[in-house]
Amino acid sequence: MTHRRILLIIGGGIAAYKAIELVRLLRKAGHSVRCVLTRAGEQFVTPLTLAALSENKVYTYLFDLKDEVEMGHIQLSREADLVVVAPATADLLAKMAGGIADDLATTLLLATDKPVLAAPAMNVRMWLHPATQRNVATLRGDGVTVMTPDEGEMACGEYGPGRLPEPEAIKAAIETALAQGTVVQPLGGQPDFAPSRHRPLYGRRILVTAGPTHEPIDPVRYIANRSSGKQGFAIAAAAAEAGAEVLLVAGPVPLPTPPGVVRVDVETAREMAAEVEAGLPVDAAIMVAAVADWRAADTSAQKIKKDGSGEVPPLALAENPDILASVAKSAKRPPLLVGFAAETNDVIAHAQAKLARKGCDLIVANDVSADPMGGETNRVHIVSKAGVDSWDRLPKEAVARKLMEKIADELDTRVPLADD
Ligand code: C5P
Repeated sequence: MTHRRILLIIGGGIAAYKAIELVRLLRKAGHSVRCVLTRAGEQFVTPLTLAALSENKVYTYLFDLKDEVEMGHIQLSREADLVVVAPATADLLAKMAGGIADDLATTLLLATDKPVLAAPAMNVRMWLHPATQRNVATLRGDGVTVMTPDEGEMACGEYGPGRLPEPEAIKAAIETALAQGTVVQPLGGQPDFAPSRHRPLYGRRILVTAGPTHEPIDPVRYIANRSSGKQGFAIAAAAAEAGAEVLLVAGPVPLPTPPGVVRVDVETAREMAAEVEAGLPVDAAIMVAAVADWRAADTSAQKIKKDGSGEVPPLALAENPDILASVAKSAKRPPLLVGFAAETNDVIAHAQAKLARKGCDLIVANDVSADPMGGETNRVHIVSKAGVDSWDRLPKEAVARKLMEKIADELDTRVPLADD
């Protein structure tokens, strides 16, 4: 993995403790981290903890002359590949949106020429307040990636959106932002609530299936496959970050829900088929799930026991519905239908045959012979009637992001957004 430099600004709030875990995850992934603590942040975590974990000097609101000589604030804000604000408090978001630079953190944010990602955390009322929503819209329009906070019980006892996304989810968003690499904040800003270079899927509704399915044999046994769900979840995350409204129908996988994604968990192929049907119509459906082809024809209500005779119980199979093929034939067929094909040989030829057989518009074919399911990278070929586009081996997050660009382009030619 490429080693990247992250400047992490830690605002004040009870969620600041999660920044410690974030530093640990980023270091584990091989990135270097430099932390800046705001005055309020210092009330919740200590510079010593962060220095020990990041193995780097920690900068605080105390901006002394010595630091300015060693490393000026402009240099500090620009030597990073990405600036991350976590937790981003309502106050920090407001200052960022207003261009206020009255301490080290906000000065760095105003001076940087690097992409900025903010992970908000605050009380539910503060998050929902029109002022905060206005600030978030302004920041997104300026090209800042503002994650959607998690929903749940808050430290203050209230319930709703405002919780800091889990460190794993912030790390995933960081990897996505790093994979984008070239994105810098547009100088002129972008209008919000309109498709832009950063949110090309704004106004689109996208359905993603991901993970395996589990097909019960009896209450304790099931038929499954090795799908980890990572590629499908990365695609759902990238679609949400590109501005789409995303419905993720997920088989049983222990992955966190990507920020801004609506997730429905299912277990079997038939449950997945029903949820997909209920989720239509959409602008695009991306079927990444590795749906079990067969299920047990009969499931036993009790655990099947060995009877000592040495005879094995018969296991009759029944074919599962092909969700992709039935969506393709349905009256609610999305304008863009994307299938996946994991193959071990003749990858492109099999994908071309599958494109026709399943009736979809694109097949993302991946060669699983070298890197089996569950890995962190993917080498894919995008197969359509127009031809084959083969991409280099990339992290799954980067595949997802590149695929979103392709999908945004395809959708623009098929279903132009109404300009209202
Ligand atoms: O036929 P195969 O499983 O190789 O096709 C893979 C593609 O079809 C994937 O997009 C997968 O999500 C989809 N599929 C499906 N329902 C099935 C089997 C596969 O939607 N029962």
